[in-house]
Formats: sequence, structure tokens, C-alpha cells
Amino acid sequence: MMAAMKRVFSGIQPSGEIHIGNYLGAIKNWIALGERLGKEAFFSIVDYHAITQSYDPSSLKKRTFEAALANIAAGLDPEKVTLFVQSQVPEHTELAWVFTTQTPVGDLTRMTQYKDKARRQAFVGAGLLMYPVLQAADILLYKADTVPVGEDQLQHIELTREIARRFNARFGETFPEPQAYINKDAPRVPGIDGAAKMSKSVGNTIGTLEAPDSIWEKLRTAPTDPARVRRSDPGEPTRCLIWRYHTYFSDPDLVQNVVEPECRRAGIGCVECKRLLFDAMMRELEPIQTRADHLRRHPEVVMDALEDGRKRASEVAKPVMEEVREKVGLLRPGDAALSSR
Ligand code: TRP
Repeated sequence: MMAAMKRVFSGIQPSGEIHIGNYLGAIKNWIALGERLGKEAFFSIVDYHAITQSYDPSSLKKRTFEAALANIAAGLDPEKVTLFVQSQVPEHTELAWVFTTQTPVGDLTRMTQYKDKARRQAFVGAGLLMYPVLQAADILLYKADTVPVGEDQLQHIELTREIARRFNARFGETFPEPQAYINKDAPRVPGIDGAAKMSKSVGNTIGTLEAPDSIWEKLRTAPTDPARVRRSDPGEPTRCLIWRYHTYFSDPDLVQNVVEPECRRAGIGCVECKRLLFDAMMRELEPIQTRADHLRRHPEVVMDALEDGRKRASEVAKPVMEEVREKVGLLRPGDAALSSR
């Protein structure tokens, strides 16, 4: 029974808020994939990855819960997608250990993300080096063949393929070689400061669950086309951050027939243009915020979804881990192989 199954796996860090860059760039994409593939999509909140760098233990539970809540509120349907917490399925770290023994240290010290992160830490734990091995275990534990991620994860997925290949060569055909799935249509959302990428560490985000007045304040003070100094100056929408955001949130008719021509002929000012954007943005975010408020009042809905996810993930993970133990030659309870009869 080794039929190749189409499975999707992705992991998200429980790093607090989810911003519109995550939402437009990743979450919407996963939701669409999950809808297409039903139960065979696994999304894990990777708390064991989160502790590889300095972190606050007193807020980790809350951030993990919030990550689940924000994803469900954004439309990830736990009935269709298996959403679970990585540390609740202990096979992840167990498989990671086996992979650790089969991975050359040199492959890990070469990872760009490791080098970047290590450079910025006073204390570099061995877990930071093993991070991509744990990621490989996440994916291969489900024999997933499709991994929706951002460009920055391509090197980790390549390493996952090498780990699968090496394991298969040594212990027999076990794992598929997964492919990264990068959605070319998903936008790379610039930060509200105009920087190339919206990112929590830079502090230029708009949260999906952020209060409307706070979102408006950020839009109101955001940079626009620098050529538009006075209200009467004609603008060039393609040079404007607000126009970019309009393309994500506003009706294409409004963008084409109002935002673009009216900006070019100075028919509307930047503040009006930002108002139109704000309205469109809130039309998309408001239902998400309403669902989030509901889930905050009923945290058991989130906890139950995670518990269902844990059970479903375990159903897949346990037999795969058992197959691995057998293949690497570990003595199992009740094994008869060595008894002299
Ligand atoms: N390293 C990924 C990131 O930072 C998160 C992650 C952990 C992941 N395990 C995974 C992504 C497995 C895809 C598959 O974005």
C-alpha cells in the first residue's frame, strides 16, 4: 500500500500577528490549494521551529493559539485542511533525529538562512543549524509531494529532497522528493513604508486583525508618488504604493476607471484615493475580523479544530514513523527477530 498520494504540507511560524503580506502572499494561496485537495492538505504551526531563536516562553502558547485563530479567521477551513500544532505530534522531532544522523553538517552550515540568522544572534543554538532537518521531517513525515512556500524557502526544500534521496538510497524507497509550490500570481506585498517587502521584523505591516482606525492612520501617513506634492500635481499611479494596494483590494473597474485616470489628471487627491483604498481593504478584512472576534469569544472552537488536526496528523505520522524505525533497524517492542527459537 505505497500508492503515491497527492499531499500538500506547509508550516507557519507562530510569530504573532498575521499581516496582509502573509494573507495575500501565502494564506489565500493555501486556502485555495486546500480547497482543491481536501483532507490531504496539512498546515502546521511550527512551534518547535519558533524556539530555535531567542523567544519569550511566556507568550509562545498565546502566539501559537493566535496563529491558529488568525488563519481560521482568514478562511482556512479546518474541515478541509488539517491544521495542527507541530509539537503535539512528537513524530516530527523523532523523524528529525533520524534525518540528523544522515545529514552532513556541511550541508547545514551552507544554508543561507542559517548563516543570516546565526550572524544576528549572540547565542547560536544547535537547533538553529538543525532547523532545515526538522523542516524536512515535517514534510516527509506526511510523504508530502507539494510544499507551498515563499522563494526564501527554496533552499530548504532542495535540502529536503536530498534528505529523501539519501534516505531512500540507504534504507530503501520510502519518501517522495517534494516540490516547492510557488504561486507566481501571489503578490510580494511592499511594506506600508514603501520598502520592498512587508515584514514584521521591519515593523512596516498592516495586520489582518488590526483595528480600522489604526489601519487608516497607517494609510493616511503612507508615502505616495513623490511627484505629487500639491493636490493639483498630476500623479503616476504605477509609482505609488497606494495604487499597488488598490490592485490587491479594489474592484479592477474602480482601479482602471477611477483611481488611475483621476490620479493622472489630479482629479482626486491622495487622501481621497486612500479613502477608497481603506473602504475596499476593510470590505475584505471586516469579515475576517468578525470571525476572529467570534473565535476569541469561543476559543474552544479553535482548540477543537487543533485537536481534530492533531488526531488526523497523527494517523498519518505514526505509521510512517513506524516504517522508518523498521527500516533503520531499531528493535521494536515485541520484535521476534532476535529470539533464538
Ligand atoms: N521554515 C518555514 C518558514 O520560515 C516554516 C516551515 C517549517 C515550513 N516547516 C515547514 C514550511 C515545512 C514548509 C514546510 O517559512
